[in-house]
Amino acid sequence: MPLPKAELHLHIEGTLEPELAFELAARNGVTLPYPDTEQLREAYAFDDLQSFLNLYYELMAVLITEQDFEALADAYLTRAAAQGVRHAEIFFDPQAHLARGVSMETVVEGLWRALSRSEETHGVSTRLILCFLRDQSARSALETLAAAKPYLDRITGVGLDSAEVGHPPAKFREVYEQAAALGLRRVAHAGEEGPPEYITEALDVLGVERVDHGLRCVEDPALVARLVRDRTPLTLCPLSNVRLRTVDTLADHPLPAMLEAGLMCTVNSDDPAYFGGYAGDNFDAVRTALGLTDDRLRELARNSFLASFLEDEEELRTRYLAEVEAYVFPA
Ligand code: HPA
Ligand code: ZN
Repeated sequence: MPLPKAELHLHIEGTLEPELAFELAARNGVTLPYPDTEQLREAYAFDDLQSFLNLYYELMAVLITEQDFEALADAYLTRAAAQGVRHAEIFFDPQAHLARGVSMETVVEGLWRALSRSEETHGVSTRLILCFLRDQSARSALETLAAAKPYLDRITGVGLDSAEVGHPPAKFREVYEQAAALGLRRVAHAGEEGPPEYITEALDVLGVERVDHGLRCVEDPALVARLVRDRTPLTLCPLSNVRLRTVDTLADHPLPAMLEAGLMCTVNSDDPAYFGGYAGDNFDAVRTALGLTDDRLRELARNSFLASFLEDEEELRTRYLAEVEAYVFPA
């Protein structure tokens, strides 16, 4: 039995496995620029975030109907459950779909078909987080939030993703103010490829409650002290960092030093179909490469539930935390 955990940094479009991509392409009459799954997988050698994003957006062409989004989410939840994920807070990128003529309704209702029965089917509770693409305009983000208004009963929060450098958090001040006024929770990617100043700005200007990645905080001791003091959760994605060359090898990952410094770290999978593994695979990889103790792994799992947006279901959080404390690691 795997360690129970919450997944807090997961792009649903990044769970599109090559097999499902080809299946949906055939169903929808879409031609992918790769002859088969094997040659598609060969394209998964990335130099940086942008080289990944190019493929990530290209493959989304196969996602057209509600059934496609439902199949995508169902496939993810099946895999996540098998790796001990008990709760998943799932990002989606509506602008990438709206731009292709796929409506907000299709995306949200399709995902919701899978999410609404997930506790029953997979034993995984879920939340949805709408992400704005930071390399698009602030106006486009405002239009996207407006388009999401009929679906806010299905959406817990907003996030910020896509190409980071050159698109600082402050660009999205207004849409985050509106999101806060609508009662939405706020997170943002910051300090993945961008500088530590973007992390500070996400906290100060956007009012985020968690920082996605946040890896480059280690370059600024005053920022680390602040994040430790405030117990601000960081949603780290170790396998993603290796594949996008944010760190050289997993053995060089600063996770152990970050935990030692008292940062509230969590371990997540980001885009598992592209980066070589789901949540449990990330836990296994850091345990092996970084020699994390069972106590540290338990701390990471505990943090994931503490950092989750389960305020409206505290009894569920309490139950998950009890599962973490009761977990017996295999000898
Ligand atoms: N970083 C930024 N944007 C993204 C990512 C990521 O790792 N995955 C999907 N969109
Ligand atoms: Zn991400």
